[in-house]
Amino acid sequence: MRVKINGGQEDIRTVWMENSVVFMIDQPKLPHRFEIYESKSYMETASAIKNMVVRGAPAIGATAAFGMAQAALEFKGDNLLEFLRYMDSAKKIFKDTRPTAYDLFYSIDWMMKEMRSATSVEEAKELLKEASQRYADESADRCRRIGENGERLIGRDSRILTHCNAGALGCVDYGTALSPIRSAKYSGKEPFVFVDETRPRCQGSRLTAWELLHEDIEHSIIADNAAGYFMRRGEIDLVIVGADRIALNGDVVNKIGTYEKAVLARENGIPFYVAAPQSTFDPGYKTGKDVEIEERDEDEILYMWGIDSEREFNKVRIAPERSRARNPAFDVTPWEYISKIITERGIYNPQDISKKYG
Ligand code: MRU
Repeated sequence: MRVKINGGQEDIRTVWMENSVVFMIDQPKLPHRFEIYESKSYMETASAIKNMVVRGAPAIGATAAFGMAQAALEFKGDNLLEFLRYMDSAKKIFKDTRPTAYDLFYSIDWMMKEMRSATSVEEAKELLKEASQRYADESADRCRRIGENGERLIGRDSRILTHCNAGALGCVDYGTALSPIRSAKYSGKEPFVFVDETRPRCQGSRLTAWELLHEDIEHSIIADNAAGYFMRRGEIDLVIVGADRIALNGDVVNKIGTYEKAVLARENGIPFYVAAPQSTFDPGYKTGKDVEIEERDEDEILYMWGIDSEREFNKVRIAPERSRARNPAFDVTPWEYISKIITERGIYNPQDISKKYG
């Protein structure tokens, strides 16, 4: 992604690996500070996923791929059986970080397959290091192609609503929902974006707005509850969101609030698009009904984070001291509310997804 820093502009990925260190953009610090988080062990990399230093399904997948390579490099000894048992425990540690985004499980199983042919520990380490880089490169390329395919759904001066951050920060690069918007910008279509703030962690107002600023894409941040108002006034032409898991029947699991936007879009006759790469399609679920929905800490609801007048990060309580909160992080949008799914292979009706990714 393009990032304007140090008086210039640089192309930066969300996560990468050099030697045995995994580097990632420190997302909780955005948009107020642009810092790179250096994760020096695979356990630290797993914690970075759990604590959302890096978040977004494809980004979580790539980080776990690098984390598995990091785990391999940390192994001492040359006993292959011991090494395979050790990698099995590393796999479990990564799979226990967050339950909903399918990319996490897809990338770990993909990495485990990549090391099967190894006949020695050294060979396995080499294979995994090379495979993790290939995983990240292929993931970025899938998102670039989603942009190319999805751009044709965006007309000149289209006004687009998006929810959460399904941008380059949620991927290795380019984004999913933001990738067609980037392509439309680069081809001169001047899209305008309504950005849902996306409480409670504000991935929209913090991360999506930050990306759009760095791409000079016009946008307005809106309260999550304001989307219906702008839809009914005819100020929104289409909706594009990302996904964390897509079931065989086309049901989509994404950030909490996505389902509401889909129902409102249907009610107002506005096309509702979902953008996602193959790593998000889960052939293990016929429908989205039983997908495990992560329930996160209630403090995310009861408090707000931000910077104060001294530009120091601060946490302020917004709810009464004795009140409790519920905090599901995702919801399921039934396929019936989805107009099309944009993938790296093309644009499909949700109910046809099983033919392509089943
Ligand atoms: O809790 P998060 O920030 O990981 O949730 C992210 C989302 O719901 C995104 O829309 C989805 O992962 C797609 S990211 C390209």
